[in-house]
Amino acid sequence: MEKELRAIILGAGKGTRMKSAKPKVLHEIFSKPLLGWVLDAINRLHHKMQSIVIIGHGAHDVEDYLNRNYKYVKTTLQKEQLGTGHAVAQAVPLLHEFRGNVIIACGDTPLLTTKTLKGLVTFHEDNNADLTVMTTEFENPYGYGRILRNAKDEVIKIVEEKDASESVKEIKEVNTGVYCLNWAKMKNSFNEMRNNNVQGEYYLTDIVKWARDNQHVVLGYTAKDNKEIYGINSRENLAVATKYMKERYIKELMENGVTIVDPDSTYISPETTIGEDTTIFPNTYIEGKNKIAKKCKIGPMTHIRGNCEVGEESKIGNFVELKNAKIAKKTNVCHLSYVGDAIVGSNVNIGAGTIFANYNSITKEKHTTVLQDNVSVGSNSVLVAPLDIRHDAFIAAQSCITKDVEANSLAMSRAPQKEIKNWVKNKKEN
Ligand code: UD1
Ligand code: CA
Repeated sequence: MEKELRAIILGAGKGTRMKSAKPKVLHEIFSKPLLGWVLDAINRLHHKMQSIVIIGHGAHDVEDYLNRNYKYVKTTLQKEQLGTGHAVAQAVPLLHEFRGNVIIACGDTPLLTTKTLKGLVTFHEDNNADLTVMTTEFENPYGYGRILRNAKDEVIKIVEEKDASESVKEIKEVNTGVYCLNWAKMKNSFNEMRNNNVQGEYYLTDIVKWARDNQHVVLGYTAKDNKEIYGINSRENLAVATKYMKERYIKELMENGVTIVDPDSTYISPETTIGEDTTIFPNTYIEGKNKIAKKCKIGPMTHIRGNCEVGEESKIGNFVELKNAKIAKKTNVCHLSYVGDAIVGSNVNIGAGTIFANYNSITKEKHTTVLQDNVSVGSNSVLVAPLDIRHDAFIAAQSCITKDVEANSLAMSRAPQKEIKNWVKNKKEN
């Protein structure tokens, strides 16, 4: 990309149909807000990408989320939601001197990809456009703004569903709500907007007509996969988008040599990487950022909650939950265990039903458990963090371990076994 690039993301709307106390853009897919997915796709366009998010409903919460997670994001408040054009107008003062290109997108379209955004910007630059509208086609375009083109294939107007005539409603090419603007040429359009339409709103889409009236070049860039602009308005949309997102990623994983036994029952966040020849068994849910190496076996029925690493040829099995756990090579956690806030070496065997007790509910502190290489933990043990269990140590089954264990030692903490001879026989005879 030649020119400097910024982005404006609309996120002031209420999302009435979500029926929620939470602002719509903070609803989550794989534990990440919708707005986060959009911002991340935009931020990958180039490092230090600067974005402006238009906030309104739940402004405080949205701002808080952004401050905690994004360094280069600014926010600006749209006090009243008077339309998409009015929303973008709020960002104009912040981009006063800016002379590059600006992408406009919505904060509720989590499936938008960097690849498509890059395609839009490249097309815009290659064709010297002043305004490029990203479009797509729908068999059923109901609800979307329709794209009107002239004989030269230039976009001449966008007509909203509510303002459309019967013949315009037949058009299947729609406005995705994503645009690329030559900012210096387009910024004045926002001062000249009118709200004389059926909804009495300031329509962002009116910049198309403004640009043409001012002899600027307006083009359309068509996104092939219309799922990318799938917008979230309801809880049902949220479930559908989650499904699209994971289906798309599972397909990519399979193309890259990962076996997914049952894609339907498997959920994997696209932020998790998985190496070749790893097999993911059914009913596995993997959220957040994780790194799973080659030749691992994961599942069935495994929950990986983020910030985890699983080394080559390790096995994470049935009813195992991992959170913030770094597990090295050839280690087995095969059944019914919780491994949280842990650093686990290679060739470790963690017996069935082992619990890493990492959390002190009184102090609210979390502590780390370290298991060095070749440690063996017997079944049904509890490891109370903080703990350091050195290499080749052996923990006897059903132990509750509260102190560090030296290398090569056996540690056990359980009542010694007692045997009362003929106890059963005596009971029966009496
Ligand atoms: C908009 C487009 C339509 C396009 C569709 C794609 C307009 C007039 N229409 O319609 O052509 O096909 O998106 O999804 O732009 N927002 C604000 N402040 C406002 C109003 C909206 O921040 O005052 C935000 C909303 O939170 C939302 C986004 O802008 O994230 C889009 O607004 P919405 O009302 O959903 O637009 P559509 O009617 O879907
Ligand atoms: Ca709408």
